[in-house]
This record gives sequence, C-alpha cells and structure tokens, in this order.
Amino acid sequence: MKVPYLDLKAQYADLRNELNGAIEQVISNTAFAGGPYVSAFEEEFSAYCQCAYAAGVSSGTNAIHLALLALDIGPGDEVITAANTFIATAEAISHCGATPVFADCDPETYTLDPASAEAVITHRTKAIIPVHLFGQAADMDAFMALGKKYGVYILEDASQAHGAEYKDIRVGSIGVAGCFSLYPGKNLGAYGDAGIVVSNDHGLIERIKLLRDHGSVRKYEHMVVGWNSRMDGIQGAILSVKLRYLDEGNNLRRKNARYYTELLADCPEIHLPKEHPDCKHVYHIYAIRSDRRDELLKYLPEQGIGCGIHYPKPLHLQPAYSHLGKGRGAYPVAEAASSRYLSLPMFPELTEEQIRYVADTVREKIVQGTASSRTTEPVLA
Ligand SMILES: Cc1ncc(COP(=O)(O)O)c(C=O)c1O
Repeated sequence: MKVPYLDLKAQYADLRNELNGAIEQVISNTAFAGGPYVSAFEEEFSAYCQCAYAAGVSSGTNAIHLALLALDIGPGDEVITAANTFIATAEAISHCGATPVFADCDPETYTLDPASAEAVITHRTKAIIPVHLFGQAADMDAFMALGKKYGVYILEDASQAHGAEYKDIRVGSIGVAGCFSLYPGKNLGAYGDAGIVVSNDHGLIERIKLLRDHGSVRKYEHMVVGWNSRMDGIQGAILSVKLRYLDEGNNLRRKNARYYTELLADCPEIHLPKEHPDCKHVYHIYAIRSDRRDELLKYLPEQGIGCGIHYPKPLHLQPAYSHLGKGRGAYPVAEAASSRYLSLPMFPELTEEQIRYVADTVREKIVQGTASSRTTEPVLA
C-alpha cells in the first residue's frame, strides 16, 4: 500500500467544481493582484479568527515581516522566538534588521517554553513570537503575562495552526496580531504562496496594508517605502472556498490523530503527541518521537509510506544563524527533539486502512529491533 505524507489531489477532487468556478471568476474579472477577492477573504478569515481586521499578503514569511515592521521593530531590537521552528519565523525578524534571539521548547508540546523565553529577555527585546507548532497553541496565558510584565509585543506565528484554539479562543486573536502562512500544504492552503495577518488593532492592519503595496494610499502616491507583498486575487478566491471546509478538515485530522494514538498507544519506544488540556490541536503535523527515528525514517518509505522531520536541525545550528554564536547544547530540548521526532502522514482524507497500515508498519519495525542497542534520552521525558 502507498500512503503519501500529504495528498493535495484528494482535496482538489472533492472541491474541483467550486474551485474551478472561483478561479474562472477572478480571471473573467481580471482581479489579479489584491482586489475584491482578497478583501472578501480578509473579511471571512478575520471573522473566523474572531478578529476585527486582516491583511492578506503574499506569504507567511511576509506576514510576519510586515507585522514586525508595522510594530516599528528594526535595527538594534531583539525578538525572541523558538529554536525549533521553520526558518521563516527567524528570517522575518532578520529582514527587519532586528536580531532573532532563540529560546528552548517544552518537552511535551514542543512549543516555545515561556520560562526559557523569559530568561533571554533584555532591555532590547521588543517582541516575542510564540509559534503554534504542529497545530497546537503555545502557552498563551504565560506569554501574554510576559508581554505585560516586560512591555513587549506578543506576535503569534499561527502558520501551522489555522482553527486551533487556546482556552476556547482561536489562535491569532490573542496576541497583538496573528500571522498565518497559507502555503499549499497548510491546513488552509492556497494554490501558490499566500499569507495573512489578523488583529484587533485597526492601525496595525492599515500599516501592513500600506507596506504590502509599495507604501501607497492611492495609485502613484507613496507615503513610505514599501514592498510588493500583495496577495493574488486567485489565491483570495481559492481560500474563500477552502475556508468553508477548514473546520471539517481539522475535525478529520483530529479523528485521524486519535486513531494513530489508539493504534500506537502500547507500541514500545514510541512517544506520541499530547494534546494539552487547554488546547484544541489541529494536527497540521502528527509527530511521534523515538530513539529509533532514523531507522523508521529509512524503513517507512521502503514500505511506501511518506514521512518527514520538522525540523531536523534547530535554527541556532543552521549555518545561516551561526553568527549568533549559539553552539550545540544551547537549547537542549529542541536539539534532543530534532534528532528524535518523525512526522507521519497526516491530511484529512487519510483512510482508516492507511492509518492502520502506517501504525502496523511502525510497530513492526520497532518490535523487530527492540533488542538492538538504544541511546539514552537525557532531556526529553
Ligand atoms: C511556523 C512557520 N512560520 C512561517 C512559515 C512561513 O510561511 P511561508 O512559507 O508561507 O512563507 C511557515 C511555513 O512553512 C511555518 O511553518
């Protein structure tokens, strides 16, 4: 049996007529860059996130970048984020001329650890970016308390968590703003690059709208030096259609995750993802953890199963951030996790048969080699 890591064709097959109709409308109205389809999606997505305003942009990276610029963050400022996130979170900080400062993650949820973040706050810190990694919210009460205590912005990177909740509140609406990637493989994905910022701060969203479109308030009238970071009209129209199915997709992901968890519950040497009681996890990624990760990483594709690692190397160990001078050992939880976690296939249309096959194959490999040598796991409980 073949089980891809992700199957975007399955979703397209279900929504084909609606999506094709939406694309055709944009083309016949020649509303390509920004425009009414983007505005409509902004309205729908901000309402979905229980926020008053939104600005659609050209990627998740640009969503974070423009949000930071709109918060007036620049050279000399520090912004704290997780060592174990996709590099885009840190790049957005660097592109403002600010310095990314990394902190470690929680050993159970893998989201940014508030105590580790607090330990690196300095008088230069302007913002903290908790990442709702894998589809589960970071500890937002703790971060909002840090924001208040130190007078720093809390900007949510919700790129992996569309529709996730923290204490029954949708992510993106808790901090000063929430930034989402709408890259095709995300829980809410465009058919190309796109991103969006949601906020209850009208002025902030207006500044982002200015920055995303060459700083212009009207054609050829430029108030500030801006960027070309508009969302495409076609992406806006596609996203409006797909937003209507987001909750259904998230519920199926949660059902799939429960089934994996049930099937693997007693599998030796496999640590399963945990849903924190305060959170509604939307399982963008179902990441198991094992000392035998590298064996699984080789074996599962041989058996027709797609899998991945998110992420194999924490950001402080990437050549791009070697100038920050943080070597191995600086963020031990993130480092230990990166050498042990493995993402199993996860998308709404996975069948029970596919999930059973993946779980059986994982178990088979683990049981086969249980007698072989184990490394110790000093940091992760
Ligand atoms: C946590 C996180 N932040 C930011 C991004 C960047 O988004 P984009 O690829 O749309 O620029 C991603 C995308 O994978 C992400 O996972």
